[in-house]
Amino acid sequence: MEPYRPRLHFSPLHGWMNDPNGLIKVDGAYHLFFQHDPDSITHGPMHWGHARSTDLVSWEELPVALYPTELGTCFSGSAVETADGELKLIYTAHRRIDDEDYQVQCLVHANRSLSTYRHDEKNPVLDNPGLPCFRDPKVIWHAPSQRWIMVVTHGQSIGFYSSPDLSEWTHESDFGVGHGRHSDGPWECPDLFPMTGPDGAEHWILLVGVGSGGFAAGSGTQYFVGQFNGRAFINGNRPGTTLWLDYGRDFYAAQTFFDREGADPIVLGWASNWQYARSTPTEAFRGVMSLPRTLSLVEARQGLRLTQSLPAAVSAALNASTEPGVYRQKMELPLAIGQSMDIALFAEHEPQFRITRTATDEATILVIRSQTPAMPAFGHNYGVPASFPKAGPLLLDIHVDRGVVELATGDGLIWITQLFYPHRPESVT
Ligand code: FRU
Repeated sequence: MEPYRPRLHFSPLHGWMNDPNGLIKVDGAYHLFFQHDPDSITHGPMHWGHARSTDLVSWEELPVALYPTELGTCFSGSAVETADGELKLIYTAHRRIDDEDYQVQCLVHANRSLSTYRHDEKNPVLDNPGLPCFRDPKVIWHAPSQRWIMVVTHGQSIGFYSSPDLSEWTHESDFGVGHGRHSDGPWECPDLFPMTGPDGAEHWILLVGVGSGGFAAGSGTQYFVGQFNGRAFINGNRPGTTLWLDYGRDFYAAQTFFDREGADPIVLGWASNWQYARSTPTEAFRGVMSLPRTLSLVEARQGLRLTQSLPAAVSAALNASTEPGVYRQKMELPLAIGQSMDIALFAEHEPQFRITRTATDEATILVIRSQTPAMPAFGHNYGVPASFPKAGPLLLDIHVDRGVVELATGDGLIWITQLFYPHRPESVT
């Protein structure tokens, strides 16, 4: 019996999982690699686990893809397909030298079915430039300059590198100082991709993880909207603007699928938080992913913002679910100004959300989660500001999968991903 194993959110059969890695769509299949310790349910020597899906609904777990080498354990990274149809993985090899972290970037050649792997003889293809935190390479093809671009953690900034061949890398620029949210720890797991705005123009999105100091305490994922000229990222908003891809406590290390066909970006995050990830109450495995979510760029009240929606097959699967504890609840909340409504998703449990209309066009979504003795940092109540539509009720779309909850507003502008561990996750109020 595994009461906390979700059905639509990916989880490994055994062992520990954190960040999604190497997301790529090839020959109609989505490949999901992930930070994995197959031998324990805590963060140990990292490997890359591997799973595949043709519909983003059911996942088949495959043999472990990357094992630690003499250069270190396998931290996060990405996957690309070249114009010749070759598949490559780029990851951080992490080791300790004289009690300090030493992180370098490595290249791996894979066959077309992503079942065999050959580490490049030159590894590391990008050596450490003297930074204690130098990790999580996300590589994209930049068509205008006909070069590969790597975004990678540079301590509290993101480093931008270019390469003609994935082997020789040149440092181009850094982005981060004075921009967005910073905390004591490094910025982690960047991603960079272009999107077409409602104006028909191209804009660039930079995703950045903040390990501690996220919107709701602990790990969080922010994004920037701007331009990328092949060398540097130019923030389109004032430096102090902080945008959150998710306002929950359990959405981190988000990455989009590499897709040569250029479909709308689909993002996946690790649904946990470093504040308590190592002590969540599961036994055979520990760690789940968020649902895959398709991104769009819209003109919102304050400017260009990302919205998220479920890919059609995921949406249909959740709508059709007859499994206890796996369902979708759409709600319409008219609410008068000053009025509140509680949403309780699990029997025998406190409400998880309290929605209050604070003004004609404003609401607060209070997220409620209490402490558990095993996870002192787990309990935390906090408010998320939301907008009422110009006319009509506030629409909510709540995705529930055995205690993994993703609440979205009807316009897709706000997502709140939260883990809950109710006594009976299969029960509905
Ligand atoms: C983010 C992270 C990455 C690192 C990986 C190690 O959650 O800390 O920066 O590559 O996890 O497992």
